[in-house]
Amino acid sequence: MDRVSTGVPGIDAMLGGGLIPARPYVVSGPTGSGKTILAMHFLAAGLAHGEAGLMVTLDEPPNEVKANVTAFGWDLGRLKILDATPDVKAHKRQRSVIDVGTTLDVRDMEQVGEIRQSSGVRALEVSIHGVQKMLKQEFFQRLERNRERYKRIVVDSLTALKMFTMQGEDSRIMIQSFLRFLSELEATTVIVSERLNPKILETEFFLSRGEIRFHKWLDGNVIRRAASIEKFRGSSFDDRIRPMSISNTGMIVDPQGAVAMTGGRLARIGEAYLEQRLSEEVTTVIEGVLKGVEDAHRLHLSVADVEHALSRAMLQLQRRNYQKALKAALHAQSMLRDRLEKKSPPPPPPSVAPPPPGGKA
Ligand SMILES: Nc1ncnc2c1ncn2[C@@H]1O[C@H](COP(=O)(O)OP(=O)(O)O)[C@@H](O)[C@H]1O
Ligand SMILES: [Mg+2]
Repeated sequence: MDRVSTGVPGIDAMLGGGLIPARPYVVSGPTGSGKTILAMHFLAAGLAHGEAGLMVTLDEPPNEVKANVTAFGWDLGRLKILDATPDVKAHKRQRSVIDVGTTLDVRDMEQVGEIRQSSGVRALEVSIHGVQKMLKQEFFQRLERNRERYKRIVVDSLTALKMFTMQGEDSRIMIQSFLRFLSELEATTVIVSERLNPKILETEFFLSRGEIRFHKWLDGNVIRRAASIEKFRGSSFDDRIRPMSISNTGMIVDPQGAVAMTGGRLARIGEAYLEQRLSEEVTTVIEGVLKGVEDAHRLHLSVADVEHALSRAMLQLQRRNYQKALKAALHAQSMLRDRLEKKSPPPPPPSVAPPPPGGKA
């Protein structure tokens, strides 16, 4: 099978050759752990092979994103960066950059997020929906004008994006549809995400096809760095944590190296592994039901109750209640199966239910 290089040979080796094309992946880790640098390696590797790359930046303005990697000596001239940084500071903008404030899409975005006028500085509330439209416009413009598809897309970061989006159920459903949208573009996508709340399993982690995680910790007074593959669908992978370093030549991962860690840290990694297995089990059921729900929509079957159960399953999964999540997901699955087999309408809601026999009409 063809693989897509991450641009870091050590990580490609851990992935058994690289990423599987046309799927969404998550790159996670704490601030300053190397997520953006890996994303840039990934895009630069594409450019080096003549593959167009597209990045949406929410964390740092585009000129800073490029400036941060000048030491690596890459030619990023052809990299398209869409600027979705909330415009609270007046960033110096470059001409190669599309400012969301100047695109037609700003009107679409107004309806979802909103553009505020505050003390003369325009604050832009960027929504997942707005970013999706922005990506879509750029993707199809490039396709029309240059007959060229973007093969590599980066969203840096979804964590920032979520902070500007509605909380709770809506954001889960929006992220789910955002990931589906990305899959449909048939580009290999890297989504940068932080785990802000360790108690919550963010939607993108269980809906992505794989996760590369960076670790950063203090050992005495030395900063240590490491990389691990947390999940990789459809391929075997190296499940050990490997030493990583960042220097003027970029990121280097030693795929044979061992990481010396204290017991506590190792135990946490062991726990994370167990948790991964549990969440994958639930995710497999959820993904199956999600596909079925799409089929049901195409058949014009009403599946609101299935979606409700599914949403409950996703909520429980986020809260790491795996048993409850699995129960809700299996419930959704059986309701859906019923619906698809019988193609029967859903049970009517109580308010319009026929009166019981003998009751008052
Ligand atoms: N040329 C360089 N040499 C050494 N370290 C670097 C170099 N460029 C960046 N770094 C380090 O990389 C880290 C930033 O990585 P970055 O990918 O921006 O993090 P984040 O995970 O927040 O996106 C910082 O800790 C910085 O010290
Ligand atoms: Mg970053």
